[in-house]
Amino acid sequence: MKEIVLVAALSENHAIGKDNQLLWHLPEDLKRFRAMTLGHTVVMGRKTFDSIGKPLPKRKNVVLTRNTNWSHPEVSVYNDMEKAIAGCAEETLMILGGAEIYGQSMLLADRLELTHVHGHFEGDAFFPPIDENIWEAEHGERKTDAASGISYTFSRWLRKQP
Ligand SMILES: NC(=O)c1ccc[n+]([C@@H]2O[C@H](COP(=O)([O-])OP(=O)(O)OC[C@H]3O[C@@H](n4cnc5c(N)ncnc54)[C@H](OP(=O)(O)O)[C@@H]3O)[C@@H](O)[C@H]2O)c1
Repeated sequence: MKEIVLVAALSENHAIGKDNQLLWHLPEDLKRFRAMTLGHTVVMGRKTFDSIGKPLPKRKNVVLTRNTNWSHPEVSVYNDMEKAIAGCAEETLMILGGAEIYGQSMLLADRLELTHVHGHFEGDAFFPPIDENIWEAEHGERKTDAASGISYTFSRWLRKQP
């Protein structure tokens, strides 16, 4: 059965980006992101795809856009979230954002793989609120990026059993 997983890095005030860029450079987080998504189907909004600039290698890239003329030779394009999910029914979907896409897929998600970046960051794109009545976290240990001094924690959030 298919699993829907949201993968994101967010600050304490839930900022995830500004001016269509990430807010930090955390090599360990990028490494974890790569390992977690390799071989899977990755789903992202058109703005996040533009920000990355090219399809992610060794993954099936799905881009959501409402522009019916948008295409890219190495990308599966959908104009509707439900159609994207239905079209990839047999696959584990790793939802890569950004804010608009996380907002629409939070209710559908089975699992959240989050990097909690400690501190407040100024952003213009935000991860949705996490309802702790619904979600339960398994937090990893706090780490610090030597180059930037930024601390972060990898956390897996699962739906609480009813
Ligand atoms: N920290 C992280 O983990 C992380 C991860 C990913 C992104 N980000 C950041 O997030 C920011 C981008 O987020 P964003 O919210 O501005 O943009 P986004 O979610 O990446 O993309 C939004 C676009 O997706 C398309 N779209 C959205 N919902 C759709 C639907 N239901 N059906 C069809 N198409 C749909 C539309 O494209 P069209 O306009 O083409 O119609 C819309 O403009 C950037 O700053 C990026 O760096 C951060």
